[in-house]
Amino acid sequence: MRILVLHGPNLNLLGRREPEVYGKTTLAEIDARLLERAAELGVSLESHQSNHEGVLIDLLHAAMDRCGGVIINPGGLTHTSVALRDAISSIGLPTIEVHLSNVHQREAFRRSSYVADVCVAQIAGLGARGYELALEALVERLR
Ligand code: DQA
Repeated sequence: MRILVLHGPNLNLLGRREPEVYGKTTLAEIDARLLERAAELGVSLESHQSNHEGVLIDLLHAAMDRCGGVIINPGGLTHTSVALRDAISSIGLPTIEVHLSNVHQREAFRRSSYVADVCVAQIAGLGARGYELALEALVERLR
């Protein structure tokens, strides 16, 4: 079983970007922990970050026949991208949406997600731990 993890725009700056909102954990640390947890769970995992919508869409398409499920933090594209939403529903893989911050406690525009209703679940506000919980839940669901 292979899981795709996608990190959207600006998440490459984690650790330095608004640490009071997003925490001090870097993206490399999040990915390292996910790889460790995946090994413990006996699954393969690949992780990608892109600041470009089309690249994220291409990665989703490429996962269609190679992966069993997806964990995605679409960053700001969460609130704007019909194309990303369509890519998630097009590939038909169970997908969990993750946000480090609680998007529902912030600006009003962050409360709407174009991807939420094509995802199995949304985890928001638990920081880096949200990714681990998403991985555990996804693997459990796939088994
Ligand atoms: C985010 C929340 C989004 O609103 C924001 O644009 C991000 C990060 C989060 O992980 O909390 O880039 O997805």
